[in-house]
Amino acid sequence: MAVREITTIPEKVLRRKARKVTDFGVDLQTLIDDMVETMREAPGVGLAAPQVGIPLRVIVVEFGDEEDENVPPKLFSLVNPEIVRASKDSITGTEGCLSIPGYLGDVERSTQVLVKGQNRHGKPMRLKANGWLARIFQHEIDHLDGVLFIDRAEKVWEAEGAAMQVVSPDMVIEP
Ligand code: CO
Repeated sequence: MAVREITTIPEKVLRRKARKVTDFGVDLQTLIDDMVETMREAPGVGLAAPQVGIPLRVIVVEFGDEEDENVPPKLFSLVNPEIVRASKDSITGTEGCLSIPGYLGDVERSTQVLVKGQNRHGKPMRLKANGWLARIFQHEIDHLDGVLFIDRAEKVWEAEGAAMQVVSPDMVIEP
């Protein structure tokens, strides 16, 4: 495993539509392992393959329970993820992105999403996410279509040291 370099704006790979994964071989396995290591090292709560310069539809997410800090964070790796249902209910929250260091923005997102995709071996899977986890999935899946949080934000501001993927006021993650 290896920590890969995180691409930052204005690198073009961040604005491209990523390709669907069809080969679940060793290169994909290495990519996913490296993305997990890169996300943890950053640290961040999610990472999309274009953020390590690879235009493929792969995301990793690792986030704990927002109500109970004793619950260990859960790791998800998803290939070809798609949001199949998003709640009408939405909430505005503060996001950052490892590819846009030094900025935060308020973004309105659905409070609940149903995500469909494949696991790292190609097996179909679906999952339901709420709250911050739902926000993280929406942010990461946007990356696969070249969409960044600054495109959706109502307000963006400079914040020193803001390099984490998604933050909330009550969640302090030192970069
Ligand atoms: Co991001």
